[in-house]
Amino acid sequence: MQKSVKVVGIGGSSRPGSTVERALRLVLGEAARLGAEVSLVGGAELELPLFDPRTAAGRRPAARRLLAEVAAADGVVLASPAYHGTVSGLLKNALDHLEQLRDDVRPYMSGRAVGCVAVGQGWQGAVTTLGALRDAAHALRGWNTPLGVAVSTAAARFTEAGECDDRHIRDQLTTMAAQVVDFARAQHALRAQDVHAQDARTQDPHAQNGHAQNGHAQDGLPADHALGDRLPGRPAAVAPVR
Ligand SMILES: Cc1cc2nc3c(=O)[nH]c(=O)nc-3n(C[C@H](O)[C@H](O)[C@H](O)COP(=O)(O)O)c2cc1C
Repeated sequence: MQKSVKVVGIGGSSRPGSTVERALRLVLGEAARLGAEVSLVGGAELELPLFDPRTAAGRRPAARRLLAEVAAADGVVLASPAYHGTVSGLLKNALDHLEQLRDDVRPYMSGRAVGCVAVGQGWQGAVTTLGALRDAAHALRGWNTPLGVAVSTAAARFTEAGECDDRHIRDQLTTMAAQVVDFARAQHALRAQDVHAQDARTQDPHAQNGHAQNGHAQDGLPADHALGDRLPGRPAAVAPVR
């Protein structure tokens, strides 16, 4: 049995009967069918004060659920309407609030699969919005799935139950859900491996720093200090100035 992973969907429209939220439910439904634990932070829950970096120290109560859901997630699905060719202010503001995850063990959306869905009245707005969403996910250190989905409401309709009448778009949404779950599982497994390796090191008092043993530090640089001297362009190690 595969380990359960958590996938959170964040929907950027608070309009009753929102197409964005229906498309998002379809993606989350598929992720749940594939064994993920899913949750949805809908538009109404994103009605947060405008993010202000001057008052961002500590987690703000209004954003608590959003931050907790993202911090616990292995995968994220972002869904936005096209508003004048880009992401809705509601969702963009919510993404700005993720600044408060900056000092977490997995900052922002690090190590998480991110699937994006953009819905417009036409293709042009849907496609430009999808690009903006994927750029924001990237800036937040998320791992965009290979497939992002643009939806034109002129081409596809969604029922309240989350069914889509366009087979091609439905297939894209379910494929993207599978990509989120697959990547989330892979990352989850890697983290579990890392925890086991750390436990083993803790139990073996003779073991050196495990990163030094396998030659890689978490920042992607070799942890072997001596190697620092051998890297081109890096100053040789010098004794600390006293
Ligand atoms: C303020 C505003 C701006 C919009 N701008 C665009 C746009 O630039 N391109 C487009 O295709 N649709 C645009 N639309 C239409 C919405 O993207 C479309 O109706 C979408 O389905 C709304 O999502 P919702 O059903 O989840 O609320 C706009 C709608 C609003 C309210």
